[in-house]
Amino acid sequence: MAKIEIKNFNLYYADFHALKNININIEEKRVTAVVGPSGCGKSTLLKSINRINDIIEGIHTTGEINIAGSNTYDEGVDVNLLRRNVGIVFQRPNPFPISIYENVAFGLKVNRIASRKSVVDETVEKSLKDVLLWNDIKDKLRKSALSLTLEQQQRLCIARVIAVTPQIILLDEPCSSLDPIATRRIEELMIKLKDKYTIVIVTHNMQQAARVSHDTAFMLLGQLVEFDKTEKIFTNPSKKETDDYVTGRFG
Ligand SMILES: Nc1ncnc2c1ncn2[C@@H]1O[C@H](COP(=O)(O)OP(=O)(O)OP(=O)(O)O)[C@@H](O)[C@H]1O
Ligand SMILES: [Mg+2]
Repeated sequence: MAKIEIKNFNLYYADFHALKNININIEEKRVTAVVGPSGCGKSTLLKSINRINDIIEGIHTTGEINIAGSNTYDEGVDVNLLRRNVGIVFQRPNPFPISIYENVAFGLKVNRIASRKSVVDETVEKSLKDVLLWNDIKDKLRKSALSLTLEQQQRLCIARVIAVTPQIILLDEPCSSLDPIATRRIEELMIKLKDKYTIVIVTHNMQQAARVSHDTAFMLLGQLVEFDKTEKIFTNPSKKETDDYVTGRFG
């Protein structure tokens, strides 16, 4: 069964038809890249998966996004639970202006997953180890998260997501505010995380998509042009528009 099945999915910002009949099956424990020129709907699609678009006024959707077989757009879906299961990390690291420790513990407390100090401590440590941050910061857990470098902040944001044990991690251009070395290190982290999580990453960086993803979706003007194995998309795409884009002829 596909982990994420996007089926005849449409999204409108009021009158503007931003996603046009999208169909994609995303398999479990793989990295799927979403690429395409600015404004084509990549972020909108990503944010539809855990329904954080819901908060935007005037938004309207049709179709389905099934996760492990159930439609997240069904009535009565527990959106908080959905967002716990499907974590998201944004372009700019957005740690809360509280301590490193409290950032990672945040979701555990808010969602009442754990309150015993020993359990929270353990989860904080494990999550920070998972993002390879623990060794650097284990002696300054009480310091403000804002004292970290941008790369460390981005790792912290990923740790904050991991702490509440999601199955899916969505990353919206997670490296775009990082330097090339930090970018490569975050990419290595993604490759490692895919053993445990299903990852969907939006990126403008074609080399990045080629390095980290198994499958790639190419979008244009709200439509999915082509979805296939990354290698195929980059070496022998079926559609001319895809070829033009991946070879840098436009976008
Ligand atoms: N809240 C909103 N209200 C109205 N229109 C919006 C809203 N958010 C996005 N849009 C429009 O929807 C389209 C898709 O936007 P989206 O942000 O998903 O594109 P994107 O592919 O992520 O672009 P970028 O690469 O620049 O991040 C754009 O035309 C954008 O202007
Ligand atoms: Mg975007």
